[in-house]
Amino acid sequence: MSDMQQLMRGRYPGNTWADVAGRDGKLPPVLAQQRNPDQDLSDIPFARYVDQDFFDREFERVWKLVWQFACRDEHLAEPGDFLVHDIGRLSAVIVRTQDGLKAFYNSCMHRGTKLKPSGSCGWSADITCPFHNWQWNLDGSLKSIPCDFEFPHVDPARAGLAEIRVDSWNGMVFVNFDSDAVPLDEYLEVLPEHFRNWDLRGWYVATHVRKHLPGNWKLAMEAFMEAYHTPYVHPEMTNVVGDHNMQHDIFSRHVSRDLCAMGTASPTARTAMSEQEMLDTMLVGDGRMVGERAVVPKGKTARWVMAEQLRARMRDQYGLDYSGHSVPEMIDSIKYHLFPNIMIYPAPGLCLVQQFRPDGHDRDRAIFDQYVLHPKPRDGRFEVAEVEEIAEDEQFASLESMDPFLASVLDQDTDIMRAQREGMYASGKGAQTLSTYQESRIRHFHHTLGEYMKEIPA
Ligand code: FES
Ligand SMILES: [Fe+2]
Repeated sequence: MSDMQQLMRGRYPGNTWADVAGRDGKLPPVLAQQRNPDQDLSDIPFARYVDQDFFDREFERVWKLVWQFACRDEHLAEPGDFLVHDIGRLSAVIVRTQDGLKAFYNSCMHRGTKLKPSGSCGWSADITCPFHNWQWNLDGSLKSIPCDFEFPHVDPARAGLAEIRVDSWNGMVFVNFDSDAVPLDEYLEVLPEHFRNWDLRGWYVATHVRKHLPGNWKLAMEAFMEAYHTPYVHPEMTNVVGDHNMQHDIFSRHVSRDLCAMGTASPTARTAMSEQEMLDTMLVGDGRMVGERAVVPKGKTARWVMAEQLRARMRDQYGLDYSGHSVPEMIDSIKYHLFPNIMIYPAPGLCLVQQFRPDGHDRDRAIFDQYVLHPKPRDGRFEVAEVEEIAEDEQFASLESMDPFLASVLDQDTDIMRAQREGMYASGKGAQTLSTYQESRIRHFHHTLGEYMKEIPA
């Protein structure tokens, strides 16, 4: 155990995430791991959020080089299905061909016109430019050029669409604009090993919310990398969800995670609740996955009942066997961050993907996408959710598809985000001072970012 973890144990004796989860039974090896290496505690300059030059360089040194999440496999189920992935001014068209996935720069080989509108998806027999009707097959090979006698200088064999790397893992599709990038599997580092017990290929996007947020993409994302703010911004959570006692693990350059206990009071809670009260008011992000409330049998905990209920539902409704999964693997908020910009929550009680991107070329605005996943029904009949998009001044709570509790939490975060953005510009200090443990993953993210930006050697 590192000094840092020792420190947490000292502060919350018997009540760290590992203590709470350990009381449920033996932890599986992946969840038993704790890793939080010592870090350089220097301040991080606000220039990383407010400086236009830094933002511009992020496109060159981060967004053009990383494997980035674009969509789920089920968005591209049939040959001809396409989806446009946008990041700032960069844009990729991803298509499903007979032979698998392909991705192309979303720009015509004739005079550059965008081939498919930003943010669009659908089905196409081929890829046709809307300007002069040059056409490509789904595999990117040239199909036809109107008045081709005008182009004796174009070799059809060399006029295919310019390709972008694409690959998928665990039902998630990633693209990389860098032709020299390492394979996706290598980029994912420890994730495939950690996700052996969480196969998300049998799940699908049941709701997809997209919101425009009032802050730099990093600022928006970092609110999800610590629960230090929870008792003050989301006080209603403290009775039934851990926060300051969360576990923060840093595994590798691109991967970190936090583990947050559900169905147990936070060390910051002001009132004590019985196990039954805890279960009755159990607040889980995707409440529909839990179903009816039950009674806590003598000697059992709210966490145990909740996990049992969820296992039964997975078995009866979806034919999925979760009997070998521990209580925390079923119900806790288990959240992996993959550099640069996604969070994956694999536990069936709260299974979702969150993505944070710059909104166009505005350093002060971000696009937040939340994909809530449900198991595919046994009969294989399901519809992938269409995106519900809301503007900066609209509330998550206005969306019927959102769990009301999660919606109110996200709305609280949005208000703070605006204040933080304004305060960064108003700062006389010009830098942020992060806590040693609870905000360690933000610091780790900035360390990796610094390496990509070549501000510190990798
Ligand atoms: S710009 Fe695409 S066909 Fe002319
Ligand atoms: Fe929050």
